[in-house]
Amino acid sequence: MDRFLEAGLNLNVISAFGRKVRAVHDPAAEVRALVAGRLEGVEALFSANLASPVGIVREIGDFVSEGEGKRVRPTLHLLCSSLCKYDGEDDVLIATVLEFIHSATLIHDDVIDEARTRRGRESINERWGNSVTVLFGDYMLAKAMEMALRVGSLAVMERLADVTLRMTEGEMLQTRYVGRIDLTEVEYLDLVERKTAALFACCCELAGILAGVGEKRLAALRRYGLQLGLAFQVVDDLLDYTGDAATLGKPAASDLREGKVTLALIGQLEEGSGEARDLAERIMAQGRPDMPEISRLSSLLRNSGAIARTYEKARAYAECAARELDIFDDSPSRSALQSLPDLLLFRVR
Ligand code: IPE
Ligand code: IPE
Ligand code: MG
Ligand code: MG
Repeated sequence: MDRFLEAGLNLNVISAFGRKVRAVHDPAAEVRALVAGRLEGVEALFSANLASPVGIVREIGDFVSEGEGKRVRPTLHLLCSSLCKYDGEDDVLIATVLEFIHSATLIHDDVIDEARTRRGRESINERWGNSVTVLFGDYMLAKAMEMALRVGSLAVMERLADVTLRMTEGEMLQTRYVGRIDLTEVEYLDLVERKTAALFACCCELAGILAGVGEKRLAALRRYGLQLGLAFQVVDDLLDYTGDAATLGKPAASDLREGKVTLALIGQLEEGSGEARDLAERIMAQGRPDMPEISRLSSLLRNSGAIARTYEKARAYAECAARELDIFDDSPSRSALQSLPDLLLFRVR
């Protein structure tokens, strides 16, 4: 959890979109206290399951294990496991499986996006080339399923297969949306639901499945994760305009250069902004990182209020997410999960 929180999630003083926010308590510390021990277990399982007698698997596996991911998904699963009063040990295994699936999709995503950096270092495709990188992503997905089989639950396997399909559909849809200046909000949200929010929902629901909670609670966990995931990706896409590469650990202002139109720009274009359309088309056509059009478009989105309005949409999802958990008994894990949307909203990476 440390990396996730030290990455800028400590709410005591965070500057978000130029605003200073001061929190009365430290929700990040509460989250850390609840998952720290089990998260160490996740780290150990993560590296152990990438150990291999095959040199190239071990080499890339070591590199992936040492990467500074925030471990948001394992954290989410472990908190939900406490919320559901799960008293077994499979939550640590499933948290690791979820981080495997997430890592595999990022590895494939970087090949698709031709990304050169990830988690503050060279991306795997940059260092090892596309062929072996694609295969390593496949290896991690298969390994995730093999690990999950140890739980011996068909319901768990069914959810994992389903989320892997949704994420693949999302990434495939995204390739079709590249360069689509007229992308609608409905299309964008459907894409985000598949590529990101489905996995967040799965993290939460699987905890309920392990604990054997009833359908009403399972559905609440699913809706909580889904809305949190939507907020998370909307913020990720905003950070592409507002963040800096050094903090993000991946290049800023790269979505549009990759031909990806995201929510703030969709909002701006729907208001009929000719200047934004013109700038966006030029950035998509040329795709150079040093184009003055990139900072002009970012300022335009900020000054027109498009960034702030999009941020409000993310906040609305996050607030709905938090309310879903009201049906669970009050507990430290419930407060942590209800503070998580804010932490993810104000994150800087
Ligand atoms: C990045 O996810 C991909 C998105 C869904 C936006 P994270 O921001 O959780 O990536 P890591 O694991 O911390 O690198
Ligand atoms: C997230 O998509 C990747 C997946 C959810 C599979 P992005 O392309 O927006 O993520 P970054 O910006 O590369 O981290
Ligand atoms: Mg990408
Ligand atoms: Mg992105």
